[in-house]
Amino acid sequence: MEGNKPQLIIDGKRTDGRGFDELRPIKIEANILKNANGSAYIEWGNNKILAAVYGPKEALPKHTADPTMAIIKSRYTMAPFSSLEEHGRSGPNRRATEISKVTSEVFENIIMREMFPGTEIDIFIEVLQSDGGTRAAGITVASVALAAAGIPMYDLPYAVSAGKIGDQMVLDLNKIEDNYSDADIPMAISPRNGDILLLQMDGSITKEDFSTAYSMVKKAGATISKIQKDALKAPYEKIIEKYR
Ligand code: CDP
Repeated sequence: MEGNKPQLIIDGKRTDGRGFDELRPIKIEANILKNANGSAYIEWGNNKILAAVYGPKEALPKHTADPTMAIIKSRYTMAPFSSLEEHGRSGPNRRATEISKVTSEVFENIIMREMFPGTEIDIFIEVLQSDGGTRAAGITVASVALAAAGIPMYDLPYAVSAGKIGDQMVLDLNKIEDNYSDADIPMAISPRNGDILLLQMDGSITKEDFSTAYSMVKKAGATISKIQKDALKAPYEKIIEKYR
């Protein structure tokens, strides 16, 4: 311990035993809610998050509608029991409002919105258990829920954070790392062309640090994208298996 700051890297390993560019284990299941047009559930380390998508449907109230394209409404919420900090609290707060806004912006740039003028597409992200990196995990699972809803998109985005602990750049910060890190940089990426759809930063880094962060995030994309696609294929593979 240095003051009150826990030591986050000991003998080249992180508190949970991971290497610097190692993701936490990720599992995704698609289409688990009957009443949503598309849904998905993710376990990302100790994060447990549900995403549900409704629409495209008539945009209401009517004055919010865009006659040329669909509007995206995202709502990120942390269940009151999702963490020790949130315990007993519920409803939107400033942080939830911000995460909802940036999530909408990610999907506004990737959904083929012109196909559905005058409509809205609702994305609900419910954090049931949180352990750092929930906005990234939320975007990753919402992406699967949108695809499961059959919403046409230019790509299947994923998101993950990179960060800085002392002089070391690391991938996918957990809660304790996030709390005590020198920088936390959540990014959402379109894997097809590497476009950055979300870039936020808490802390400060150099240009070189940013290149390291971006390359770590891009490299992790191969793993995350595969898990997203496998989740979308799984229900169909079960059917094919049945008739084999
Ligand atoms: O989850 P993410 O890293 O995207 O967001 P953050 O605002 O950087 O918060 C980091 C972590 O702190 C969250 O994942 C939660 O585990 C925790 N947190 C919490 O428990 N209660 C809050 N009101 C805010 C954050």
